[in-house]
Amino acid sequence: MSSKVLSDSTTSYDTSRRERRGRTLRTRPILSTFCAVIAGVTLFACNYYVSKTTGDIPSQRIQQPPFNAQRVLAQCASLKATVGPSESFSKRNVSDRFEPGTNATWIRNARIWTGAENGTETLIGDILLKGGIVKRIGHISDDLLEDVRRNLTVVDAEGAWVTPGLVDLHSHLGLISAPFMKFEVGSPHGPIVPWVRSIDGLHTHDDAFEQTVAGGVTTVQVLPGSGNAIGGQAFMVKLRKTKERSPTSMLLEPPYGLNGSEPDSDQPLRWRHLKQACGENLSKWGTRMDAIWAFRQAYDTARKIKQDQDDYCLKAESGLWTELKGKDYPESFQWEVLVDVLRGRVKIAHHCYEEVDLDDIVRLSNEFKFHVASFHHASEAWLVPDVLKRMFGGPPAVAIFASNHGYKRESYRGSVFAPRVLADNAIPVVMKSDHPVINSRYLLHEAQQAHYYGLPPHLALSSVTSTPAHAAGMNHRIGRLAEGVDADVVLWDSHPLQLGATPRQVWIDGIPQLTSTASPSSILVGKPKSWKMQDIPHVPKFSKERKAAVKYEGLPPLQPKKLERDTVVFKNVRQVWMRGELGLRERWTARPGQEGGIVVLKKGAIACVGKEDWCFDFDGATDREQLKKKAIDLHGGAVGPGMMTFGSPLGVEEIDGEASTQDGALYNPFTRNVPNAIGDPAGLVRAVDALQFQTRYALNAHKSGVTYATSSLGKVKVLGGPQNIISGLSTTFRTGSAHALDTHAIVKEITAIHLMFGRSDPLGGSTGASVSTEIATLRRLLLDAEDPKTDTGKWFQKAAEGSIPLIIHVNGADIMAALLRLKAEIEDKRGSQMRLVFSGASEAHILAKQIAGAKVGIILTTPRPLPGPWDGHRILSGPPLTNNTTASTLLEHGVTFALGCLQGYEAAHVRFEAGWIARELGDRADDEFLYALVTTNLEKLLGMEGWIGEEGDLVAYDGGSPFDFESKVVAVASPKKGVVELF
Ligand SMILES: *[C@@H]1O[C@H](CO)[C@@H](O)[C@H](O)[C@H]1NC(C)=O
Ligand SMILES: *[C@@H]1O[C@H](CO)[C@@H](O)[C@H](O)[C@H]1NC(C)=O
Repeated sequence: MSSKVLSDSTTSYDTSRRERRGRTLRTRPILSTFCAVIAGVTLFACNYYVSKTTGDIPSQRIQQPPFNAQRVLAQCASLKATVGPSESFSKRNVSDRFEPGTNATWIRNARIWTGAENGTETLIGDILLKGGIVKRIGHISDDLLEDVRRNLTVVDAEGAWVTPGLVDLHSHLGLISAPFMKFEVGSPHGPIVPWVRSIDGLHTHDDAFEQTVAGGVTTVQVLPGSGNAIGGQAFMVKLRKTKERSPTSMLLEPPYGLNGSEPDSDQPLRWRHLKQACGENLSKWGTRMDAIWAFRQAYDTARKIKQDQDDYCLKAESGLWTELKGKDYPESFQWEVLVDVLRGRVKIAHHCYEEVDLDDIVRLSNEFKFHVASFHHASEAWLVPDVLKRMFGGPPAVAIFASNHGYKRESYRGSVFAPRVLADNAIPVVMKSDHPVINSRYLLHEAQQAHYYGLPPHLALSSVTSTPAHAAGMNHRIGRLAEGVDADVVLWDSHPLQLGATPRQVWIDGIPQLTSTASPSSILVGKPKSWKMQDIPHVPKFSKERKAAVKYEGLPPLQPKKLERDTVVFKNVRQVWMRGELGLRERWTARPGQEGGIVVLKKGAIACVGKEDWCFDFDGATDREQLKKKAIDLHGGAVGPGMMTFGSPLGVEEIDGEASTQDGALYNPFTRNVPNAIGDPAGLVRAVDALQFQTRYALNAHKSGVTYATSSLGKVKVLGGPQNIISGLSTTFRTGSAHALDTHAIVKEITAIHLMFGRSDPLGGSTGASVSTEIATLRRLLLDAEDPKTDTGKWFQKAAEGSIPLIIHVNGADIMAALLRLKAEIEDKRGSQMRLVFSGASEAHILAKQIAGAKVGIILTTPRPLPGPWDGHRILSGPPLTNNTTASTLLEHGVTFALGCLQGYEAAHVRFEAGWIARELGDRADDEFLYALVTTNLEKLLGMEGWIGEEGDLVAYDGGSPFDFESKVVAVASPKKGVVELF
């Protein structure tokens, strides 16, 4: 790496330390090494000279050196070694990871985002990959090509975008392996375990390796879990399968000593990596106060060892051997990595959420003088930039999720605006997956959302490339495109900040990873994408919302700014859809080139849609000029039906991880008897009795145009399975209502019966029964087994007769098949037609034909699944791994399907999920189809036909279609309530 690049990209902390060390390096280590080489003969003189020149110790009497003096002096010299790439690194011709026999690759006609100039540099031209490195960018000369002509793969990018491979700074790939069985992610042996190493548990058969590469991610930092304060050493791992197949062969620049390598005394050392954590995850070892004491004890131990080493070396290097007689060089195998932390040789990734935790660790860093490279999760980091700036050695990078906030108290104040606020405070922003918490295949989607909510495009792209690479000390090799870096490159089908951007090809170390799509013109990837999608999306402005978020410390009011019961006019509207008597109805679409229209709402209902003059005349308004003046410009946006969500505990809990904010556990008849007082054998209860209004997730969903929700009492844990089989009677409600007695707050009190079926999950949570027991129970209940005077008897009878939908959360195709058989059996015996729906259903494509034949509906709650739980691991990956997805297969077979989600935070973004499906289905998905996925299809499957209808809520979007990143909700109108809420 050239010194220019170095000074551009290192923080002031790094630079000053380098300078400090640089000075010592020039005098002492070189001399010491020289002395060591000629030890024995001229040692006296050397030592005398060293102590004279450094002036560290007054020159004293020269003493007789011991036999191991040479080794000791070399060891002492190594203490002054710097860390990071050598000066000549970027001049290398071949990567240490090069696989002999790999063709050179010439990518032509690309738009290249290099990552240079803080992510603002883009070039149009070519890239040559050779020897596992980027050999040239821009114009490739004939001479250079002549060299490799015989083993050259040529790829025409046809003007598409090329970026460096993505870098995920926070992953548990290989530790929590898909399909999920054993989780080996931390150590049970106390809060302080710096000696454990993620590499020692890295499972190479994780199905997520292939999936993650398919998302353009090429390097991840595999971190131990966050259940320990010092949780162990982390490693940078390249996701390519190697010939050797070992975890060791996947490491990016492993620290010396790990794989038998020795440091070269002329060369700087390589960075090491360590995971630390604070906060509630450590509660098994005590309180926050205990945890910080555990840190201080550990670092105090390391500090003493370091001091002993320094004292020892000062004496050795001054030739005071008599004083060292009988004393070994002080070191500790257990604590050596912490000593390296104190020597500035370790990049720490620190899991830390709340202000109190961040402040604790910043104090700790100043007390012991070490730097934390990155804070992770860090839900409140955006609220305390000044604390971050007080970190010893300069502010850390902050690695966060885009929208996955509020899942526990620690993350309650997390915000979609955090990336932008951090960037405004000059804190480096990293978007991370915490795979498998977020499927790392969709790491880029985190950056896309950060961009949607205000992070500038160059920083959004940097947040998953150069910024994490720098935070890991690896930006001499990864995270940017420049001559000499590793040949990790992604060719995209659209601009990487566009929703649904998918790689056409991914190279790691110059080796193409997507075998089926070597040519960008082949198969489905990118096919339906217009040229417009090669540009950065024009995202809406959120400056007011962002300021309010900061002002209210992450909990800004989510209520509308204004309620309008009078006339509201929207102008410059390009499209109007609404619910009609027979489903969705297109009221207006401006033709290309045509001006947008006007929508006049009176008491929340549409009074007129059309051209301006016509609407105002029709209105017969005398105050025409007045209306014109107050018309709200939607800038080519849309008005559409309020969307609906199903599948998460929206409205029945505030915070996923905080029991005190929830309804509480259901009685599970499979593990204990339901109390007699309920008087119901299966404990079938009603979600309507558990409703909580004004939860942040519900209000956020409302504000994002998702105005209806159906919730049951069932819940699927993030990494676990369903928790209970019988999950109550669901209810449908308005997400924006004030309380249950508010006008029209409850839309349909009892909506459907819900069950959750599945195999036991590896985290130990389970429904408490075998799959066969679950099905036997359902058979019995549907065959009139219980007294219809009990709730269980009554509602299961209705389900068997088909007068209430039976919604079963199930992912595995085999369980679905058993349920289809059961349905046929019941219908045959009772002469009925049941209304059966599978939610989840990530293996539904396997049975699409049979599901269609049985007239069973599907609600995809994870439309982009990870092959995680065994039930449902046979996913249809979709582009670029397969042409088809579960959605496209269901569509092909005529199955009625809809979209849902499993977690409360996801409800606000259902429109992006639909948009993603649009990108994959191309012209098979028009706007009517997309709206139906989150309105009428969902209503149909949940038995809600006619319950919302023409008086359904309407949502106004500024800037574009609801299904892309260019629009933003500005108003929700309710004809039923006679009001327009303006946000
Ligand atoms: C990159 O960003 C940093 C921090 O905002 C700034 O100090 C620096 O000048 C920028 N460099 C370039 C080349 O824009
Ligand atoms: C390597 O390059 C040669 C010559 O261009 C070509 O015939 C061959 O198919 C390439 N091999 C691979 C694996 O792409």
